[in-house]
Amino acid sequence: LIKACLFDLDGVLVDTAVYHYQAWKRLANTMGFDFTEAQNEQLKGVSRVESLNKILAWGGVEKTDAEKEALATLKNSWYVDMITKMTPAEVLPGTVDFLTAIHKAGYKLALGSASKNSGIILERTNLAHFFDELVDGNMVTKSKPDPEVFLKGAELLGFKPDECVVFEDAVAGVEAAKRGGMKAIGIGEKSVLTEADVVVSGLDKLTVKDLEEL
Ligand code: BG6
Ligand code: MG
Repeated sequence: LIKACLFDLDGVLVDTAVYHYQAWKRLANTMGFDFTEAQNEQLKGVSRVESLNKILAWGGVEKTDAEKEALATLKNSWYVDMITKMTPAEVLPGTVDFLTAIHKAGYKLALGSASKNSGIILERTNLAHFFDELVDGNMVTKSKPDPEVFLKGAELLGFKPDECVVFEDAVAGVEAAKRGGMKAIGIGEKSVLTEADVVVSGLDKLTVKDLEEL
């Protein structure tokens, strides 16, 4: 029986996946190459450093650790410029209603995000108060698809993995949930999120009943 809900942030509650993509694309372009939207799928859910490593490999570019650090910082400064201008209007459709409904129904809620910027985003969008626990990129050592971020969330909430469902837009995030022994609801397309138990286009398509039927 599902008792707890663990939410990814970027691309599930808010459309920051677009900002990540724009900032990484701009960084790649400054180095003289580009990458596709399909490649971008592989960056979703993946930590900042690992995203950069993938992009550099796609461009066939080698950098020292110091250069990589500077590039990641530059990308993040562009990204932070965008997210500090966010408003509650950028919360994805159905999010506030769904979070309100599951909270009322007695489910416990935790955030399980790879981002080190989750604090700014939750504050700018007024979503922080929904969560009983917050786990983000500042608190984990292993990036999705490792299940660490979700196992930590479950533990903080006091539930076993099989009592938890994860909401994820990323292939790596769905894999993390399944490896952690949790149910996964994919937010996006079935053809992409093939390992998810259920796939919907957004939280606006879900009700409390869907959780009871998992
Ligand atoms: C994830 C995003 O939520 O956070 C990734 O899906 C991103 O695209 C990762 O790289 C880390 O985010 P940040 O904000 O710490 O650079
Ligand atoms: Mg995501």
